[in-house]
Amino acid sequence: MRTPFIAGNWKLNKTISEARAFAAEFGPLVQDVTDVQIGLFPVFTSIPALSEALGGSNVEVGGQDFYWKASGAYTGEVSLPLLEDAGAKLVLIGHSERRGRFGVPEPDLEGEAGRVFGETDHSVNKKLLAALGSSLTPIVCVGETLTERQNGHTDAVVENQTVMALDGVEASQVASIVFAYEPVWAIGTGEVCAADEANRVCGVIRATVASKLGAQAGEAVRIQYGGSVKPDNARELLALEHIDGALVGGASLKADSFAQIVQAARG
Ligand code: PGA
Repeated sequence: MRTPFIAGNWKLNKTISEARAFAAEFGPLVQDVTDVQIGLFPVFTSIPALSEALGGSNVEVGGQDFYWKASGAYTGEVSLPLLEDAGAKLVLIGHSERRGRFGVPEPDLEGEAGRVFGETDHSVNKKLLAALGSSLTPIVCVGETLTERQNGHTDAVVENQTVMALDGVEASQVASIVFAYEPVWAIGTGEVCAADEANRVCGVIRATVASKLGAQAGEAVRIQYGGSVKPDNARELLALEHIDGALVGGASLKADSFAQIVQAARG
């Protein structure tokens, strides 16, 4: 059995005091939940305060990104040991807002909005390998743009991103990796991917993991869906075979709506 995993990605939102207020409201709403893993990704500056506020609870905190080197002359970056030091247990890798096709930022191209920081499949792979050497659980994001979907390239894009991310990863490590299927066109748009289609593409990711690292690895890997997940569509998505959880943006900013999504993941 794969444990469901509901994670909230706050992106560039919430001050330290807002993060603390969220913890005070959210903690009690989910304190009895033992059958779902729960994570929150605040901005870096709130990680210590949120970890402390949620300390001893069933809610883990994570970093939205990191550089794969531990320390050195890398202005503006944060590393895995520093995230661990700040109280993080989780880390996001390759969120679509951090990626860019061919390493080129393309925030202004029609249909490609949402890929901002030029991250490549190569850097996603370097980060995953580094995360597997740390105590942090990585969530690796994959997903196609609207143009790629319209051109019929969804499966190829997702397969390729999955294979590239897993370069050099051992089968025995896959159980500690989480993938998130996030179609770029469904992120922050209110346009959720139809549940059957989300499940089908999550199945493509699972089959890709299985063909690269074996059937057992395919069975073990957890796959979240992300993209306009809300309390009113979560239950339908989370009931499907290949969807083991959700990566939630907008609806994770409010304690009650995020708690409702956690409840929807319960068996
Ligand atoms: P959304 O964001 O739920 O606001 O669509 C999801 C994400 O970017 O992880």
